Amino acid sequence: MSAAPMIEARGIHKYFGSMHVLRGIDASVAHGEVAALMGSSGSGKSTFLRCLNRIEEPTEGEVLIDGSIITNMRTDVNRVRADIGMVFQDYNLFPHMTALENVALGLIHVRKRSRSEARDAAASALEQVGLADHLTKHPQQLSGGQQQRVAIARSLAMQPKAILFDEPTSALDPEMVHEVLDVMRALAGEGMTMVVVSHEIGFLRKVADQLIVFDAGLVVERGPTVRVLDEPEHERTREFLRALR
Ligand SMILES: Nc1ncnc2c1ncn2[C@@H]1O[C@H](COP(=O)(O)OP(=O)(O)OP(=O)(O)O)[C@@H](O)[C@H]1O
Ligand SMILES: [Mg+2]
Repeated sequence: MSAAPMIEARGIHKYFGSMHVLRGIDASVAHGEVAALMGSSGSGKSTFLRCLNRIEEPTEGEVLIDGSIITNMRTDVNRVRADIGMVFQDYNLFPHMTALENVALGLIHVRKRSRSEARDAAASALEQVGLADHLTKHPQQLSGGQQQRVAIARSLAMQPKAILFDEPTSALDPEMVHEVLDVMRALAGEGMTMVVVSHEIGFLRKVADQLIVFDAGLVVERGPTVRVLDEPEHERTREFLRALR
């Protein structure tokens, strides 16, 4: 077991044109740790998450995965995105492919597995998220909660080092939220390193080890989740938590 954190961000800045949306973010997530990001709309949570697997390129700063810098020219970004999976609010599944084909795709094209190996691994990932009976369905034949579980299986099948979740339940009908949170809780219990943007306070309280609060492109507060929720030190955190209730 290496001593380096699984994910480390050092001094991340991001500009979109002249807009300075990340203003120097540091973060460290240990092996098997769950970190949660909270903060008001536009504070930079999604942009930061996307910098961690180079869906977005930081303008300045470094990201290290398991001790290796990934924000340099030599690093293969497809490899990074396979190693650090991402689950989006709106699932991003291919509509013309079955659940099994959606999950197998990256295994074939990025991990270079044979089709039969990829299908087996995809089936087992779908089984892990409770979808063994839905392998041959297309996204439109699945509920939102089921589609989001397909998206989680797609990340899992790649045997990632960590998975990033960007508001994975905020597009779901309330009755489907828990089935996705249950899968995420099980993953955390199995030791998956996760960074989660979510405002599901009850879930975060149980599952997130660390809570990081963003405001206007900066981290205003961070600490053990229960401490930050129950005894927020920063006025912006208090305001934000009050607005959620
Ligand atoms: N591709 C882009 N081009 C230009 N501006 C962008 C782009 N992506 C994000 N931004 C801007 O960067 C800022 C931070 O956006 P970001 O999506 O990271 O916020 P967020 O904290 O995730 O917000 P939300 O809670 O609404 O999802 C916002 O002002 C947003 O408009
Ligand atoms: Mg966002």
